[in-house]
Amino acid sequence: MNTSVKILDDLYLVGASDRRLELFENVYPIPNGMSYNSYLVLDDKNTIIDGVDSAVTSRFIENIKSVLGNKTLDYAIINHIEPDHCAGLLDLLMLYPEIKFIVNDKTKKLFKQFYPNVNDSSFINVKEKDTFSTGKHQFTFYFAPMVHWPEVMTTYCNSMKVLFSADAFGTFGALDGNIYHDEIAYKERYFSEARRYYSNIVGKYGFQTMSLINKVSNLDIEYICSLHGPIWRKDINTIIDLYKKWAAYTPEENSVCIAYGSIYGNTQEAADFLAQQLSINGVKHISVFDCSKTHFSFILSEIFRCSNVILLSSTYNNGLFPMMEQLVDEIVSHNVSNRKFSIVENGSWAPQSAKLIKSKIDTLKNSSILGQVITIHSSADKINYNELIELANNISESLL
Ligand code: FEO
Repeated sequence: MNTSVKILDDLYLVGASDRRLELFENVYPIPNGMSYNSYLVLDDKNTIIDGVDSAVTSRFIENIKSVLGNKTLDYAIINHIEPDHCAGLLDLLMLYPEIKFIVNDKTKKLFKQFYPNVNDSSFINVKEKDTFSTGKHQFTFYFAPMVHWPEVMTTYCNSMKVLFSADAFGTFGALDGNIYHDEIAYKERYFSEARRYYSNIVGKYGFQTMSLINKVSNLDIEYICSLHGPIWRKDINTIIDLYKKWAAYTPEENSVCIAYGSIYGNTQEAADFLAQQLSINGVKHISVFDCSKTHFSFILSEIFRCSNVILLSSTYNNGLFPMMEQLVDEIVSHNVSNRKFSIVENGSWAPQSAKLIKSKIDTLKNSSILGQVITIHSSADKINYNELIELANNISESLL
């Protein structure tokens, strides 16, 4: 079955979506599946831009063969060598033995680590801002190291005004027939997943993401073709502006994300009480998560949305509650900055969690602790409830 889609006269989407995989990178839940986009440019020399994951390689190959017919495939531009985009490269090499892989030095090194048997003669090396012609189309390479691996580059085609952006501007979620952002209910269907994708996959590298945005900001871009999710051809500043915000670790809104680690429900009660108080005070769009129930990636995404974060945690084995520890470590490892944190700990005989959370949060740039740390012994007492009300008032005042 041919599922390729014509985007422009010489440009085709030849990737495919997978809805079977549970965990992207064996870490991130993808309840709505995942798309692996690849693009085929027909010209004097036919060129594929990036490949796909092993889950959809056979569909990818079939699509390429259908579009090319009797023609051959001359080049493969490899913007990103991570296996979710390159699992099918050896299949391409078998089918089209003369194909040349357009790579930079770092890509080639990683390529040979994954596929050691590929000969040097199969590569053409390019440097930053080199221009490569396939006939009537020219491609210029803008490197984007660490968005999301060190070898990543993006490719701009001036004649088609297309930016092939690698992982940047992508999202979790399969493509359901419609391939353009403006054809789908993006806000409802993809927006929060685009933030979850950015914050978890690329979020650690805000500085590098901003560098890429600055590099391509003067290009005349009519299409952004990412490796995951819908293609942008209208309102492309919407996604660029969001990326600027996320890359700068600027909260989307003044609101509160509350996450708790609770063994028997007493810490949860304090979390719910705080949420209620904040709502009474007029704070909107509060979110509350049980970090034992909700995968950290969803909570991290909400933390990218919100200006304030409240972490409530039981003490466990004289340390942090395990799922809270994972969440806090993810916050730290993703360099989340510019947030105000508040902390509530619970411990029946030797509460430790506030000290441990604080020691990790203190390493974050431009982040601070708002309000007094509250200590609960087993279950919140009258004094604790007054402290929780005061904390909610402090947070609300800082927001409104
Ligand atoms: Fe979609 Fe970094 O791989």
